[in-house]
Amino acid sequence: MNSNLEIANKTSVDEKQTFDVYQVRKDFPILSRRVNDKPLVYLDNAATTQKPDSVIDSMSHYYKFENANIHRGLHFLSELATESYEKARLKVKEFINAMSVAEIVFVRGATEAINLVSNSLCRSEHFGSGDEIIISEMEHHANIVPWQLLCDRKKIKLKVIPINDEGELEIDAFKKMISEKTKLVSVVHISNSLGTINPVKEIIDYAHSFGVPVLIDGAQSAPHIKVDVQDLDCDFFAFSGHKVFGPTGIGALYGKTEYLNMMPPYQGGGDMIRKVTFEETTFDDIPHKFEAGTPNIAGGIGLGAAIDYVNQFDRNVLKEHEDELLKYATEKLLEIDGLKIIGTAKHKASVISFIIKDIHPYDIGTIIDTDGIAIRTGHHCTQPIMQRYNLPATARASFAFYNTLEEVDKLVVGLHKVIKMFR
Ligand code: ALA
Repeated sequence: MNSNLEIANKTSVDEKQTFDVYQVRKDFPILSRRVNDKPLVYLDNAATTQKPDSVIDSMSHYYKFENANIHRGLHFLSELATESYEKARLKVKEFINAMSVAEIVFVRGATEAINLVSNSLCRSEHFGSGDEIIISEMEHHANIVPWQLLCDRKKIKLKVIPINDEGELEIDAFKKMISEKTKLVSVVHISNSLGTINPVKEIIDYAHSFGVPVLIDGAQSAPHIKVDVQDLDCDFFAFSGHKVFGPTGIGALYGKTEYLNMMPPYQGGGDMIRKVTFEETTFDDIPHKFEAGTPNIAGGIGLGAAIDYVNQFDRNVLKEHEDELLKYATEKLLEIDGLKIIGTAKHKASVISFIIKDIHPYDIGTIIDTDGIAIRTGHHCTQPIMQRYNLPATARASFAFYNTLEEVDKLVVGLHKVIKMFR
């Protein structure tokens, strides 16, 4: 076994590593590359995070030494691959503190997780004509469009919790919206555009007092805060591996056993059945009845390695560092003449959307890229938020625990350079 895999395995135990950002950066090979002959300053972590060596090596190790299909071979490699893949499921279960591994369905990412719930619930008795689903104005398209597709098929109404100017949910409006017609509440934990951390526990408790299940889109919360689905008491939780330092094309849907058991399969095919005849097919138990076909085995293993990587640190220490980056960057950006931050909620994660007077966000992004600084510009797959603030787009800097205060300074220098070119 190579040394990175040994590190990944060791880190699943309780002892936590001291967090030193400069040491940590050495674990991420891409962070030492140059872009346009400048050191890369990667501030697009809400779009995707970079991967440590241990994640990259775990997948390479699987393909080099363990590659076989899972759950259906009696030979040595198949059993080894099955064991590694199911070990990864156990790591996901522990990462979000689910009650059992049966509640963890591997999917392509948060988007597929939400599509699974909407497609499957759509075919269950759960939804009928006249029912309502509540989402919010700050949802990513992944938590809007699947419900619209469902509403098209069944006569269901979508209701939208508004947000205030700071980018916080109007909780009183939500409380007035919920009724006996509400069949699901589906809200984002942390907004990818605004950085707002939503009071999801309060939302879940309130929805439950009406007997309404709640889905949490955790794509942005899983990388920033320790998630405990039992403590939240959410009914579904969706997240993507690539936003938690793991590979793309893998993620997880958590669902409470009672819901997953009640829901029909999402896709049909091999590995999700118990018995197939032309007259009738019976399905496997959860979570396998939702996992048709050969899955992303290497991706699952890579996600497990990413969880091991994150777990070697005290999550509170990582959050403190990100909070420091957020505070410092907010102060520094606000000193820039004509710059306005979009999303000023009291509780925020390290995501800053901004505009600069008379300069299009695309120009900002393109110009600072020439200095090796990567930020995202556009609507961030949240067009309703842009409509709410009457903006075509924003520029967005999003930080991970491997970013430094010096990188914030470089962003500020880059933005001054942009302004000089336009004024
Ligand atoms: N949803 C991702 C983002 O916010 C892609 O950039």
